[in-house]
Amino acid sequence: MANAAVRVVDHPLVQHKLTLLRDRARSTKGFRQILNEIGMLLAYEVTRDLPLETVAIETPIQAMQAPQIAGKKLVLAPILRAGTGFLDGMLSLMPSARVAHIGLYRDPESLEAVEYYFKAPSDLADRTVLVLDPMLATGNSAAAAINLLKARGAQDLRFVCLLAAPEGVAHLQASHPDVPIWTASIDSHLNDHGYIVPGLGDAGDRMYGTR
Ligand code: URA
Repeated sequence: MANAAVRVVDHPLVQHKLTLLRDRARSTKGFRQILNEIGMLLAYEVTRDLPLETVAIETPIQAMQAPQIAGKKLVLAPILRAGTGFLDGMLSLMPSARVAHIGLYRDPESLEAVEYYFKAPSDLADRTVLVLDPMLATGNSAAAAINLLKARGAQDLRFVCLLAAPEGVAHLQASHPDVPIWTASIDSHLNDHGYIVPGLGDAGDRMYGTR
């Protein structure tokens, strides 16, 4: 199977807000707020091609056929903990979406993803699943999260991040060539500690002030 596409969202609002987030002087409160705003903007891009169906409605003036999103609702699947940074923004655009929580942490030595929590709707096979993690670094967590979702039946998945390293993109494309990726930037590389360069540091710590 050919590798899935990578879409870099170059909308000026997204790029401007990403610069605000990268700035080390950004407060915890500001970081969280802007990450949510970018979540909303990325949700707009990643849902651009969702199929529509026509329904009969009546406006105050006359009856008409009008478009609505076809099929079952979406699932938003944040990888804990930084993935939750996108959640409120995305849910404000898609309030009926279901949420799957995926608890993975990065072993500091091996950088491998270790599962500690998984809770998802039972009908994943019928839904489009947006896997959320602001940072696509090694790709280990993203690939592991998608393995877990596929093992529970998910078939239609999209991965949404804020920043990607080329190493993470390559890993995810090799592990899951059927899963397209949306990101606001593909940065230069990973450093020896697995951080994205130039990146923005540890997204979870910056969201929650735990550094
Ligand atoms: N996770 C982060 O939060 N930041 C990185 O740069 C890499 C992984």
